[in-house]
Amino acid sequence: MKFEGNASLLQQKMAGSSAGVARRLAVMNALSLQTGDTVLDVGCGAGHLVEDIGLAVGSGGKAFGLDPSETQLESARVRCDLLSNATFLCGMADKVDLPSVSCDAIASIQTLDYIEDVGATLAEVARLLKPKAHFVNVSVLWDNFKFHGADEKLNDLIHETFKAHCYHQMLPMELSGRMAKHGIGNIRTESLAFVMTQRHENSPATYAEMVLANFAISQGVEEEKVQQWRSQLEQAEAEGRFGFTSFPVLTVGTKL
Ligand SMILES: C[S@@+](CC[C@H](N)C(=O)[O-])C[C@H]1O[C@@H](n2cnc3c(N)ncnc32)[C@H](O)[C@@H]1O
Repeated sequence: MKFEGNASLLQQKMAGSSAGVARRLAVMNALSLQTGDTVLDVGCGAGHLVEDIGLAVGSGGKAFGLDPSETQLESARVRCDLLSNATFLCGMADKVDLPSVSCDAIASIQTLDYIEDVGATLAEVARLLKPKAHFVNVSVLWDNFKFHGADEKLNDLIHETFKAHCYHQMLPMELSGRMAKHGIGNIRTESLAFVMTQRHENSPATYAEMVLANFAISQGVEEEKVQQWRSQLEQAEAEGRFGFTSFPVLTVGTKL
C-alpha cells in the first residue's frame, strides 16, 4: 500500500486518533530516552513520534525521521517546524543514510508490516544501533483487525480483500526470533490491543473503516457492496452492536 494522497491523509488521521496517541506513549516509555540522545524513527509518516522524540532529547540531541513518501514527509516537516533537532530523510528502511553505531535508540510504528524484506531492515537497524541501545517496534496482528456488526459474508469479503494491503499479517509472532538473528536480544513484548464501539472523530474505527472501504474498491469490489457494508456498520452502531478490534504489539529489544 502506498502512503500517498488520500491514503496518506487517512493514515495521518489514524495517527492522530486515540489509538495513535496510546501507541506513541507506549513507545516513548519503552525507548527510555536521555537528553542528548540520537534517535531514528523508521517509517515516520507525518512525524508525530519524531516530534515527541525531538522534545524528549532536547536541543543537544537529534531526532531523525525516515520515510519514502514525500507526501508524508511534507506533513512531518510542518509538524516539526519549530524543532531545531529534527531531520527528515527520504528513503527506504534497508538503506539509511546515517553512520554505523550512531543511534542511541530506534523506533518503528506499523511500518515493518509493509516491508517485504524485514531481514534487510533489521540488519540495517542492527548496523545503526550502539551497543545496549533499544529497538522498539509496533506491528499489528492483522488477523485480529476486525469490524463487527455487518452481515457476516460481506464483512468477511472486505476483510479478506484487505489482507493484500501489507506483506505481513502476523509479524509480531515471529519478530523476536528475527531480531535475535541480528544480535538484538533481551526481548519483551507488550499488548497494545483495544476495542472501539463508536465511530466518532477520535476513534481509529472511523478511519480504519474508510481505509478498508477505499482498499476494497481499489481491489475491484463493487462500490455498491462497499457502501452497503458501511451502511450496515452505521446501523449496527445506532443499535449498539458495533465493534472494532485491533491488536498492535510492542516488541522491544537491546543491541547485544
Ligand atoms: C502505517 S504508516 C505509519 C506511519 C507512522 N509510523 C505512524 O505511526 O503514524 C507506514 C509508513 O511506513 C512507510 N514505509 C513504507 N515502506 C517503507 C520502507 N520500505 N521504508 C521505510 N518506510 C516505509 C510509509 O510511507 C508510511 O509512512
